[in-house]
Amino acid sequence: MDKVVEISALSKAYTQGHEQILVLEELNFHIAKGEFVSIVGPSGSGKSTFLNLVGLLDDVYSGEIRLFGRKLEDLSEGEKAALRLKNVGFVFQFDSLLPEFTVLENIEMPARVLGQTDPGRGLELLRRFGLEAIAHKFPMEISGGEKQRAAMLRALRNSPALLIADEPTGNLDRHNSGVILDDLRRAAGTGAAVLMVTHNEEAARRADRVLRMAGGKLEELK
Ligand SMILES: Nc1ncnc2c1ncn2[C@@H]1O[C@H](COP(=O)(O)OP(=O)(O)O)[C@@H](O)[C@H]1O
Ligand SMILES: [Mg+2]
Repeated sequence: MDKVVEISALSKAYTQGHEQILVLEELNFHIAKGEFVSIVGPSGSGKSTFLNLVGLLDDVYSGEIRLFGRKLEDLSEGEKAALRLKNVGFVFQFDSLLPEFTVLENIEMPARVLGQTDPGRGLELLRRFGLEAIAHKFPMEISGGEKQRAAMLRALRNSPALLIADEPTGNLDRHNSGVILDDLRRAAGTGAAVLMVTHNEEAARRADRVLRMAGGKLEELK
């Protein structure tokens, strides 16, 4: 199996005042290419903390994290930034489209950061997901579900090997949640490892594996 993420004995604590709060405790995890994995668990159990570490948004931890076979502690800040830009896509619960840019311009943003913008690729992505009609609209002109899907396409723009979604359907109705889950499944079908946190049991079960965050660890439910 082609491992995208391998984690062993990952621990993470936050300092609050004089107290240390241990959120993740010797956690182990792995996800392979093309796999769709969901994580459930109560609010405050450390799901977002975990995703931020896997997605290189946070680098204070103990234990070992390997992305694409490379140990994070061996990488320089520049190497980690490049790895994140090229190989990791993030989707959050609340869409984060830039209001002054069109949907297509928003989707092109991650490519622009790499100096590789090509609106043809962005349009192709929109077409593949049946969203070409909103390409030239501004975020305020489209629905909540469309915004979330556009944010997802932006996360997919650089063809990341790892797509991380933190409660991507948390703000959507049943129909739009289903559409987003279809999109995530499709992303996994193209070879990305898809890692999703969700509160929704039905959504969680659409994944290949379901894990539960509890007591600072991940346990397999399915
Ligand atoms: N930046 C931070 N500083 C201090 N404590 C934090 C910080 N971020 C999260 N926490 C605490 O860590 C725990 C896990 O939070 P989080 O990962 O956001 O949980 P979840 O996503 O499962 O709801 C919570 O108790 C939260 O209050
Ligand atoms: Mg969270």
